[in-house]
Amino acid sequence: MRKDAGQVFRLEDYRPSDYLIPQTRLTFRLARGATIVVAELTVERRPGTDAGAPLTLDGDGLKLKRLELDGVGNPTHEATPDKLVLTQLPESRSFRVLIETELDPDHNKALMGLYRSNGVYCTQCEPEGFRRITYFLDRPDILSVYQVRIEAPKPEAPLLLSNGNRVAGGDLENDWHFAEWHDPHPKPSYLFALVAGDLGCLRDSFTTMSGRKVELGIHVEHGKEKLAAYAMDALKRSMKWDEDVFGREYDLDVFNIVAVSDFNMGAMENKGLNIFNDKYVLADEATATDADFANIEAIIAHEYFHNWTGNRITCRDWFQLCLKEGLTVFRDHEFSADQRSRGVRRIAEVRTLRGLQFPEDQGPLAHPVRPRRYREINNFYTATVYEKGSEVVRMLRTILGAETFRASMDLYFERHDGQACTIEDFLKVFEDASGRDLSQFGLWYNQSGTPNLTVSPSYEAGILTLDIEQSVPPTPSESRKRAMHIPLAFALIGSSGEELDFSAAEGATVENGVIHVRKRSHKLRFHGVAERPVLSLNRGFSAPITVAMEQRPQDLIFLAGHDSDPFARWQAFNTLQTDALIAAYRLLLGGKEAKYQKDIAQLAGRIATDATLEPAYRALALTLPSETDIARDIGRDIDPDAIFSARSKLAAFIAAANREPFGKLYEELGSLEPFSPDAASAGRRALRNTVLGYLARIDGGADIAARHYNTATNMTDLIAGLGTLAHEHAASSQAGAALADFAARHASMPLALDKLYQIQSTAPGTQALETVRALMRHPAFHIDNPNRVRALLGAFSAGNQTGFHRADGAAYTFFADALLEIDSGNPQLSARLATAFRSWRSLEPVRQEKARQALVSIAAASSVSVDLRDIVERSLA
Ligand code: ARG
Ligand code: ZN
Repeated sequence: MRKDAGQVFRLEDYRPSDYLIPQTRLTFRLARGATIVVAELTVERRPGTDAGAPLTLDGDGLKLKRLELDGVGNPTHEATPDKLVLTQLPESRSFRVLIETELDPDHNKALMGLYRSNGVYCTQCEPEGFRRITYFLDRPDILSVYQVRIEAPKPEAPLLLSNGNRVAGGDLENDWHFAEWHDPHPKPSYLFALVAGDLGCLRDSFTTMSGRKVELGIHVEHGKEKLAAYAMDALKRSMKWDEDVFGREYDLDVFNIVAVSDFNMGAMENKGLNIFNDKYVLADEATATDADFANIEAIIAHEYFHNWTGNRITCRDWFQLCLKEGLTVFRDHEFSADQRSRGVRRIAEVRTLRGLQFPEDQGPLAHPVRPRRYREINNFYTATVYEKGSEVVRMLRTILGAETFRASMDLYFERHDGQACTIEDFLKVFEDASGRDLSQFGLWYNQSGTPNLTVSPSYEAGILTLDIEQSVPPTPSESRKRAMHIPLAFALIGSSGEELDFSAAEGATVENGVIHVRKRSHKLRFHGVAERPVLSLNRGFSAPITVAMEQRPQDLIFLAGHDSDPFARWQAFNTLQTDALIAAYRLLLGGKEAKYQKDIAQLAGRIATDATLEPAYRALALTLPSETDIARDIGRDIDPDAIFSARSKLAAFIAAANREPFGKLYEELGSLEPFSPDAASAGRRALRNTVLGYLARIDGGADIAARHYNTATNMTDLIAGLGTLAHEHAASSQAGAALADFAARHASMPLALDKLYQIQSTAPGTQALETVRALMRHPAFHIDNPNRVRALLGAFSAGNQTGFHRADGAAYTFFADALLEIDSGNPQLSARLATAFRSWRSLEPVRQEKARQALVSIAAASSVSVDLRDIVERSLA
């Protein structure tokens, strides 16, 4: 494990390297215990670098076996496991360096570099894993052409894959064989990949827009080939979509995807050889939920889209991570919107952003979409870089319009193909294509924090006046903020539901339904407005901000029934629910009974049964704000038990008032149709399962949920029944029976057991801690496997507000110990889990102090990784 020297990397310190590596030849001899890697680098001195400059290569825990310079052994050098410095280099501009290192993939538990997962050799190099394979200029602005030779025992590894096209292969002595791969596209080291093992394959092909045939292969465990069919279909749809929507064609003869069972993240876009967490490849109706199908579709698309946004055009340095990630998330969101229901997808995206990114932006881990400093770059694969980064690209499109946006993207690909770029390069393209000045807009990349708009409307004699104030709350190391350019989509809605016109607007630029807020305050006047309108603001969530506006409940009810923008319509009901929940929370804290208005239950009933609305939309509208949503909106002095109680009581109130319509709807939606993973079918299941959640809260609820579980014919319904039983009727005999049944039926299916872990670890209440402790001893639980750990400990800490935030702090202590145990093998994983503490300062004082002590105990432990220490220290700062 790399020890923390407290080193901080800063954006302003970027400087180009003295040397380039135009060509890289790698030879791997894969043998258990001692894998040999020979790297032959063609090194070139950059013009302007003086001949005496040393060549300093990055390493991480490497064992150097042999070193040659232009064919001569043992040149002048200094080597440590983490660095190789060559001095007294030849006068010639270019020379060759040969480096032999020895690795132990079997003992690589950090899952960075070359490791073995379930017997399969695989790699993960982004962001700095390549330096765990060989010494290199391991930075994304060093683009090299790779030729890779893999040698391995044939019975153990009949499949040998790397990037690019396969150019040679054959048998060697002693039952070994080899393959050689050549990738003609110069690429940064983080996109290097190798896979060797014994896997089954689902094959297909895709013919590109210019008529080239691409061989597609998805490699999975033997016997699971059929489970890759949905992923293959998603891949072909992605390839077609990128041609249709962005004019981007694939550029190699083969495209391979490999599913591995030990993986730190979702997937990785290595050139021509994507490596995936198997959770995001394998699916059929019996093993995957509708949410899994949607994630597979999105992630397959995401990694494929990186081929242009990430690989052909890459990042100059890791501060620019959002250049590829924010843009590629935007592209995968647009893909899913086109494949499914745009309105429903948008609501889901916003829920994710608010659930993950807003708390990050509002807590101690806040950072700009393009950070300016880091200690550990792995800790910046965040919701801010990815999700807010995507929203920033979306705002660009809103501001410029779809046509200019597309023209700008064309220019981006044309101008920067083959380069390693910055956010400035990216913004310049949009400025050049549109003729606009985007310097104020650029703050979205450089200033952290969630902007707030306070809007006060008044109407008199045909004139609507909006007083708009913007503010960005202070965030770590940014106490003073500049005013941002916020594109606020809006509509003025008349009493019969139609959009009202206005003759003129003054006080801010208003165009195409968007108010351009650019100053700290605007007084905006709309003239010629026929009646007092109901305001629909931030339609489609045009900006990633919070909006504060006093709105009468009857206006919100009106919007929830009439707004033609699906997001704004959903938002109106969500605001009503949030207001009701917060009011009830305050009553409960004051020792009073929670009270709810009948309106909210009536509206729920109307929406549930409104056949003009898509079922998926209705399901989202009926899903109450989560406990963390509510906590975020309350903001401080949080008592998670009172939030839980307010939320359960509102759900029971809505259920009791709608017993009959909900019961009828549940039955109607239950008529069996053959399974299909498409969005419309999934939407019907989602609505039925949401309604089940309500029915389970009235008399006989346990029986309904048990029947749901027992008659389920797919994983989505099975999990809905199981989750409802385990969370709403935990003490019932039905819950116990269903949990035991599920465990027995899926005993040899780790991905299904993850779902069980997740349900059990998120069962509300203090007893969850004991459940989690017990499950950690479950024979199928392995602390080395990120999926298992996330399903159990990740879900517990981030998804169980009453269980994790027990008032006695016992769960914090337990969790801190678990983090340290995980940290000794996999720092990336422990650091990611530790972000569960990020909102600790918004808790009430007793819990706050206990959480603080847990964080301090981690910081004080004798051996803590750079990754975990970085998160803990920033959280405490
Ligand atoms: N580039 C990958 C993706 O978003 C994520 C890989 C990050 N890996 C890591 N170890 N931090 O598709
Ligand atoms: Zn990505």
